[in-house]
Amino acid sequence: MPIPARPEVAAIPPYVPGLSPGEVMRELGIADVVKLASNENPLGPSPLAVAAAARAAAQGHLYPEGTAPSLRRALAAAWGLEPDWFIVGNGSDEVFRLLAEAYLRPGDRVVVPTPGFAAYTIVARLMGAAVEPVPLDPAGAMDLAAMAAVAAGTGDRPPARLVFLTRPNNPTGGVFSAEAFARFLAAVPPETLVVLDEAYREYDSTPFDTRGFVLAHPHLVVTRTFSKVYGLAGFRVGYGVGRPEVLAPLFAIRDPFSVSLIAQAAAEAALADAEHLRRSVALAREGREFLYGLCRELGLRHWPSEANFVLIDLGRPAAPVHEALLRRGVIVRPAASFGLPTCIRVTVGTPEQNQRFAAALRAVLG
Ligand SMILES: Cc1ncc(COP(=O)(O)O)c(C=O)c1O
Repeated sequence: MPIPARPEVAAIPPYVPGLSPGEVMRELGIADVVKLASNENPLGPSPLAVAAAARAAAQGHLYPEGTAPSLRRALAAAWGLEPDWFIVGNGSDEVFRLLAEAYLRPGDRVVVPTPGFAAYTIVARLMGAAVEPVPLDPAGAMDLAAMAAVAAGTGDRPPARLVFLTRPNNPTGGVFSAEAFARFLAAVPPETLVVLDEAYREYDSTPFDTRGFVLAHPHLVVTRTFSKVYGLAGFRVGYGVGRPEVLAPLFAIRDPFSVSLIAQAAAEAALADAEHLRRSVALAREGREFLYGLCRELGLRHWPSEANFVLIDLGRPAAPVHEALLRRGVIVRPAASFGLPTCIRVTVGTPEQNQRFAAALRAVLG
């Protein structure tokens, strides 16, 4: 008899990552594979980041400085805040997990958007919290009024301990306004921690003053990542920004060496490469327009996106289409795991990759 895991663990559905090109090459014998499934940067990392990583590799016999002081100083300078307002993690995923471990008690209420990013639910359930999904509005943005109402609790339901918000949202790419966010922050109870995940912030043509919100709201933590526009998904670096006293419990429990020396160096160099950032954002914005045009041509509904991906409703079960695209060497993300079985989420690629996807989709849909 195997030793049973904690019931909280057994109840967690496994995270479904995008397929890797290697898997598709091996399993389908296709040599030339395009991956548009995990919202990575098709331009790759900044050359400055690659050079910094190579330099750092020569120091690879040494443990990293666990709290990433140099990267936190660089982030502090970029944000105009002090370094103790930052915690660096092994991807923003680690920051979500640390927030859950530090703040959630069994039975605590946690409010998440649906459809939304699965990691919030996983870390909350891991701690035995009760997850309450709140549907998006029809445009694919968070319904902040509904989320605030659920977070407030009523009668015998205490206020939520944690609310996760994503802007732009994954998988829709939808955003909410600064005014709606201000109303939300005013409405949520003071004992509720609000986590705003800005993984796709740089692609957004309507960003708001996040720093101002963090300064004004003691219970707000913002997360960002180097995995998307900075092209460092394989390095695993993300960070959280919030009041030092809110982050202190996370520092107390974090794995002392979770972010490698190489990843810290790459992230700091990437932060300094404004030109790579600009090119990456421009490419994604152009590519979004191309994908919208494709949807119009094929008569497919799509959601307006402020991120580097577009959610497309195929109007039919997406699984066979996904499969047929794979056979043509194009990996997209089926949205069934988000509860959207007729949709696919397509990462914006290079113009050539977008054309390749378009040709494959036209052929598959006949
Ligand atoms: C909304 C959102 N937040 C966070 C992440 C994870 O980022 P990281 O690679 O920093 O763990 C992703 C990755 O897909 C995401 O879509």
